Amino acid sequence: MEIFHISAECYPMAKVGGLADVVGALPKYQTNAGHLVRVVVPCYDTKFKNENDFECVHWATVKLGNFDFPFSVLKEKTNKLGYELYLIEINDLFNRPNVYGYEDDIERFLSFQIATLDWIIARNKIPDIINCHDHHTGLVPFLLQVAYKYETLKDVKTAITIHNGLYQGWFGFDKLYYLPEFDLKHVGLLEWNNSINSLAVGVKCANAVTTVSPSYLNEINYSANGLEELFRSVRNKSKGILNGIDFEVWNPLKDQMIAENYSIENFETGKLKNKEKLCEQFELDSSKPLFSFIGRLFEEKGGDLLPQASALALSEHFEDINILILGSGNAEIELQLTQLRNDYKGNYNVFIGYNEELAHLIYAGSDYVLMPSRVEPCGLNQMYAMRYGTIPIVRRTGGLRDTVIDFGDDGNGVCHDQASVGDICYSINRAVNLYNDKTNFNKVVQRGMSTDHSWERVCQEYIELYNLIIEKNEI
Ligand code: GLC
Repeated sequence: MEIFHISAECYPMAKVGGLADVVGALPKYQTNAGHLVRVVVPCYDTKFKNENDFECVHWATVKLGNFDFPFSVLKEKTNKLGYELYLIEINDLFNRPNVYGYEDDIERFLSFQIATLDWIIARNKIPDIINCHDHHTGLVPFLLQVAYKYETLKDVKTAITIHNGLYQGWFGFDKLYYLPEFDLKHVGLLEWNNSINSLAVGVKCANAVTTVSPSYLNEINYSANGLEELFRSVRNKSKGILNGIDFEVWNPLKDQMIAENYSIENFETGKLKNKEKLCEQFELDSSKPLFSFIGRLFEEKGGDLLPQASALALSEHFEDINILILGSGNAEIELQLTQLRNDYKGNYNVFIGYNEELAHLIYAGSDYVLMPSRVEPCGLNQMYAMRYGTIPIVRRTGGLRDTVIDFGDDGNGVCHDQASVGDICYSINRAVNLYNDKTNFNKVVQRGMSTDHSWERVCQEYIELYNLIIEKNEI
């Protein structure tokens, strides 16, 4: 079947978070399974865009109310990503380095959605499925159904995948005129709490709603930033499909970004070499267990708990642990984490920023990865960690609940229930004891390394869901 994925992010073209990893990998496995898969993202001014060759396959003008923006559709020439990548180039709106964070984000992502549909309809070929991702593409199912100009695409089946329901793309009805003309009797579909809510629109109008883990699907029924009732009402067309990870990119045996390759057969020596390199780089002591955090420093990820939890754990265990943090986000959290360096030299360090290569080395060289998230729709870091023989320490929520089982229950990680400094430190204590019991520690590592989180398996679940909505219009 012909599948379109429409998304704001796709690794390696543009990455802010896990959304990019999923949209950069799932299509490859769907292609391998014999489908024709096209990924469409905006053409930002990124390294990948500048270092690769593209051909222009379509150009026109996209209308946003009274504004006209010339746009082109650029196709990556080689298909080296394992699927067809298309960029919507609207220079006035996207020729900028960042994905999000501009005053005109609403105008940017609306134009992106409209231009994408203008191109799809201009091809004169009707796709089987359009899979939208998060609120940036939430209006697509609505426009397909009701906008006069997309009449011939009216029956295309759509799915919306929710990677993060906290962000919803709200805007006022004063911008209603941006949308292509449609019969106003449908205007209610746009509304949630007196504004246009892009995510809610997608959830109402798509043929199927997926979340990136089964537990997250349950959680959004009672915690979804105002959309709980809506999620409850669409339960019969919703499904939680746990994300996979790209086992080709994330493979400690082949990874070019780490210091020493290894597998489950020789992880002890392999990981030690990586740990030594990491500890040398960050002035840490490789004879002690290394606890790391990789990610965005926001409350949602429990980032605000890290400064105090690190300080407490280090003061209790100054002699026997290291903590290393890689991330960026909230300026206050960044500052607190940076200041801690002065108090715990030799046992603590932080790298403010985002660095894909360093992330790989951290997974390879750490003993534990901390994920104290308040909200975690799926979480990929715990899966990367396990694949690299690093034990995840997680708060039981969303996808973390679905992938990590406490070692006390013969599982692959360390779990706690509360998003609190106390719970994090309690888990660190248990992890230090486990580290000192090498036989059991290694068993937990091996269980993690042999867990199958590959996309091959997961990819089939998406295809089955698409087939159901194509054949029966329901799931
Ligand atoms: C978002 C979620 C994260 C999920 C990722 C990919 O970043 O916060 O939990 O793993 O999307 O679906």
